[in-house]
Amino acid sequence: MTGPVVASDIDAIRDAVRTARADAAARGVADARVALVPTMGALHAGHLALVQRAREVADVVVVSIFVNPLQFGQAEDLAAYPRTLESDVALLAEAGADLVFAPTEQVMYPNGPTVVRITGGPVASQLEGASRRGHFEGVLTVVAKLLHIVGPDAVLFGRKDAQQVFLVQQMVRDLDFPVTVEVVDTVRDTDGLALSSRNRRLGPEARIAARALHGALEAAASAADRGVDATIAAAQASLMGEPLVALDYFAIVDPGTFQPVDDGYRGPARVLVAATVGGTRLIDNDTVVLG
Ligand code: PAF
Repeated sequence: MTGPVVASDIDAIRDAVRTARADAAARGVADARVALVPTMGALHAGHLALVQRAREVADVVVVSIFVNPLQFGQAEDLAAYPRTLESDVALLAEAGADLVFAPTEQVMYPNGPTVVRITGGPVASQLEGASRRGHFEGVLTVVAKLLHIVGPDAVLFGRKDAQQVFLVQQMVRDLDFPVTVEVVDTVRDTDGLALSSRNRRLGPEARIAARALHGALEAAASAADRGVDATIAAAQASLMGEPLVALDYFAIVDPGTFQPVDDGYRGPARVLVAATVGGTRLIDNDTVVLG
């Protein structure tokens, strides 16, 4: 099995994408489609589901691996973020990725943090944005750079980061990026815990306690036909029983606007939970239909 071509600078990945498009054309694929899966590495089955979907929608699959300092707050430990490039590339070889873009910080930010940033408006400063100030500015800025560098036809994100997905979709719409955003469902462990690169930081007790996030979403789904307030109360009650879980927020938003809904709201809504479990911050979300 030959692995993906790994490029670590901008000219090299642009050349590799050009060559891959030309190779596809030589095989008779007119207008080959390129898909980009942006990641911060420490890959797990959730990322591989993105690669699998990318294979379905494109002829050439590019995965970027870059731990983006711009999206980490001062209190967040950028240095502790897992970096596992070698095993990531091995997983991507099995998953059938064609190209990996793994730049250094110097390649992405040669003059230090960018002066020009992309802000996401009011949605970017609530929920995750309220707990992690500047986070989405960092995410949108690096995603914009990656889209300019790779020039894909499709870009793929996991639904676990629902607010990130909403904001990237808004950026792509507002700024006319010529790319389709594909969203892939969250992959879960057998006990319901959403897969995340952060899960590897959970100790054994915290790993068991972390199931409570999915439990809260299930409690919310069961109460949804009784309205917003009852749904929030049910989720919060289900989290009370777990002393290792410190709830940051449980929120219900209108999927079209990402604004919190009030008790009179009826219809599909996204329920979101964020909590620190034994020192590790986790998020999860699901769709419910409020009655
Ligand atoms: O979801 C992530 O892993 C990151 O936020 C992303 C999209 C790769 C940008 O750094």
